[in-house]
Amino acid sequence: MSATVIIGAQWGDEGKAKFVDFLSSDYQYIVRYAGGANAGHTVIFEGKKFVFHLVPSGILHKHSEVVIGNGVVLDYDYFLQEVRELEAEHIPVMERLYLSDSMHLILPYHKMIDQAGEEMLGANKIGTTGRGIGPAYQDKMSRKGLRLGDLHNEAYLKERLDAIMSFKGKELELLYSLPPLDKNKIFDELRSFYEKVKHRIINSPFFLNEKLKQGKKILLEGAQATCLDVDHGTYPYVTSSNPTIGGALTGSGIGPRWVDNIIGISKAYTTRVGSGPFPTELTGDLGNHLRELGREYGATTGRPRRCGWLDTEALRMAVRVNGLTALAIAKMDVLDEFDTIKLGVGYTIKNETIDHFPSYGLERVTPIYEEMPGWKTKISSVRSFADLPVNAQKYIRRIEDLIEIPVRIISVGADRNATIVRP
Ligand code: IMP
Repeated sequence: MSATVIIGAQWGDEGKAKFVDFLSSDYQYIVRYAGGANAGHTVIFEGKKFVFHLVPSGILHKHSEVVIGNGVVLDYDYFLQEVRELEAEHIPVMERLYLSDSMHLILPYHKMIDQAGEEMLGANKIGTTGRGIGPAYQDKMSRKGLRLGDLHNEAYLKERLDAIMSFKGKELELLYSLPPLDKNKIFDELRSFYEKVKHRIINSPFFLNEKLKQGKKILLEGAQATCLDVDHGTYPYVTSSNPTIGGALTGSGIGPRWVDNIIGISKAYTTRVGSGPFPTELTGDLGNHLRELGREYGATTGRPRRCGWLDTEALRMAVRVNGLTALAIAKMDVLDEFDTIKLGVGYTIKNETIDHFPSYGLERVTPIYEEMPGWKTKISSVRSFADLPVNAQKYIRRIEDLIEIPVRIISVGADRNATIVRP
């Protein structure tokens, strides 16, 4: 067995990319398996900040190759722009990146529908990133999507676009009052994109399983997170894919028997972008202070993130549905200056304690907190668990008690080396 999966255990933005980057040196292939350009993965590498939206962040490791899997919805404009930006930094992306032939493409109308749909929802909007993610997955499931492999044959592409776009054109006009589509323009864009990437297109399930058989190690890089999962998250305030373990398998085509580590990533506190319930949210000065300390602004949209205390009931759900084997905790240093730190340990509804993260009515729960003394010391230069202040160790140990899996990695700063690994 030699595949490891990295999964967000909260509402996204946990700092997955830092852990992917930290762990990548042990893996020959890094694979993105879900989501699209709604993700923003930030890595500080050699003092420089890189924000990845589609390219797996493992590309920063010279010996690794990266794959964008079939579960991703690819916006070809964003993708080419990201490749250009990385290549300008002397990272030869197109020499080390493969694209799955069965990934779905985000077409210009997906973004238009995403934004128009949000406007129509008004106060009930999801707060999407506006990147066309929901409409693209919707078309995938309703079998009106276009896959990368469909670009190979011009005649087939024309036929397929005709079929899809006569339908989508009506949807745009009648439902959203949007202008008609220029099919020829989209066709030309797609063909031009295909010419640029055709030498990197693969049947990714075959490719990846062959590599595993040859003894190579694969790291699956999650995007978004468990509480944004369309099945397990806070529906309807979720993304339109499965960032959880099932999505990792279907979105890469790797058989489950190859997976030996499933690592959940959580911040030492909680954040959320967009609408939807968030039981441990801190509104007011404390929430604003946490946002400034953690520099909690979206990497994709720049929106301020909502901030709150760590919610271990939500983490227990993530442990359960993903079968997490360990947790990694990010941004522990952001809590350095607090006198006391609250830890969400469960929920009540109408004064009755409930024993799990509910599928419905999360907005009605009241968190139960334990208050712990802070450590009031800068920990960013600490490199071993034993050297952490005792109160920081107690905080981690209490989290482990509550979620019943070990915390194996703790990040205490943005740099790759600002990381504590526990044996
Ligand atoms: P969509 O994925 O753009 O459709 O947005 C649906 C919800 O997921 C919104 O609340 C977004 O803010 C949230 N979301 C999507 N991608 C990310 C992410 O990478 N980090 C955090 N939140 C995200």
